[in-house]
Amino acid sequence: MPQSITSEPGVRPAIFRFRCIACGDLSDIASQNFRCSRCGDLLEITYPFSSKLSERPLTLTPTDLKSSWKQRRFSASPVDLSGVWRFRDLLPALENEEHAITLREGNTPLYEMPQCARITGVPNLFAKHQGMNPTGSFKDTGMTVAATFARQAGFRWVACASTGNTSASMAAYAARGAMRSLVLVPDGKISWSKLSQALDYGAVTCQLRTDFDGCLRLLQELVLRAPVYQLNSINPFRLEGQKTLAFELLEQLDWQPPDHIIVPGGNLGNSSAIGKALLEMHELGLISRLPKLSVIQAEGANALVRTLREAGGKRLVSVQAETRATAIRIGNPASWKKAAHVLEATGGACEQVSEVEIAQAKAEIGAEGIGCEPASAVTLAGLKKLVKQSFVKPEESVVLILTGNLLKDPDFTMEFHSGDLFPWPSHDREHATLTALRHPPIVLDATLDAVIRTLEQAEKSGDSKA
Ligand code: F0G
Repeated sequence: MPQSITSEPGVRPAIFRFRCIACGDLSDIASQNFRCSRCGDLLEITYPFSSKLSERPLTLTPTDLKSSWKQRRFSASPVDLSGVWRFRDLLPALENEEHAITLREGNTPLYEMPQCARITGVPNLFAKHQGMNPTGSFKDTGMTVAATFARQAGFRWVACASTGNTSASMAAYAARGAMRSLVLVPDGKISWSKLSQALDYGAVTCQLRTDFDGCLRLLQELVLRAPVYQLNSINPFRLEGQKTLAFELLEQLDWQPPDHIIVPGGNLGNSSAIGKALLEMHELGLISRLPKLSVIQAEGANALVRTLREAGGKRLVSVQAETRATAIRIGNPASWKKAAHVLEATGGACEQVSEVEIAQAKAEIGAEGIGCEPASAVTLAGLKKLVKQSFVKPEESVVLILTGNLLKDPDFTMEFHSGDLFPWPSHDREHATLTALRHPPIVLDATLDAVIRTLEQAEKSGDSKA
């Protein structure tokens, strides 16, 4: 079991074990596919401070933790500059902190969203922008931990199945850690921006003639046959890193929990990770009450919505996924049980939104000067629904988790603004709403007159919009 070095008094390293989410079996090692050797279900990482273990709890007082985390912000050491490893007391302990593979991930902004607040009627609305991570998505926070443990375990190769962001992130961290990386992505179903990142970071990139679910199935078999370390979110080290989003968010909110946190759902690793962090913070006394964690999916990739509605969360209802929010085009989410658990434990909701609602929400977030990729915009679209259902009340505070950067999917944005995204006829009202949000590029003769006329027209139409 790994031991760690930590200098701060009162704070101990997080010694961990693997625990099966179904049968509760505890072990010190995990097999290559990160499944329980007894029942085959997923593993999670658990610590002595968790009441799920009977060992003596560590002395992790909320005051010590909060003050160490704050103190580290003034340090120049790589692990302290990382917005993930700064919270290492609640992460699996490293053999040597100097060996962490870090790109200064985390440290992402929490923005106020005044225009979206007006649109939704929820004045206390914020967005935590994970798209501001080094490779442009939340995946980096998990990858720094999982890649570090891959290297610590002596692997030369890491691999993942991906809708694009995981592969971009994995390739970057593998390159930084001097490991080779193998990427399996669905042919033609991921954005060029994400694919090009993996190429530039030197991954062996295979575009398979299948969907994400097919890529993941194949990877699960591959890791049992070849010495590659899998970096999908089935890997519980990934979720430990992604957990830190919630620590950082609560620190930014001065440890006052928001009423709601809303997150997109694809393979359901991220919602599981954030939920785990909320439960751990509550258990350790870092927060006095739990925010409700809600998951939003695209209508065309709504496996969790259907699992909860049609099967009471007892068995997975998988779907043939289809959505232009390609990051969450997943029909057979691996972490559905973990996500169903955290939704129940925090009292959160699960909703679905249409393609038009996603595009509209994405343009509205863009109009705040923030921008995000389509999968992230499901959060705002979902919030509108949750407000309509009175699940979210106007006086409550809400944080949307924006998972990916606007530049991740420029094709979607260009098609939206040029009017090509929804070629089929739509309702008049829908059409008018989308048209008002479009800002297509204008091709002009290179004359001063033409530009001034355009400016005047824009000023007029701006007045009529206001
Ligand atoms: N948002 C973005 C931008 C994503 O890339 C993903 C997942 C999600 C949301 C959903 O997160 O899977 O943890 O529920 N992307 C994965 C990938 C599947 O391969 O990049 P999840």
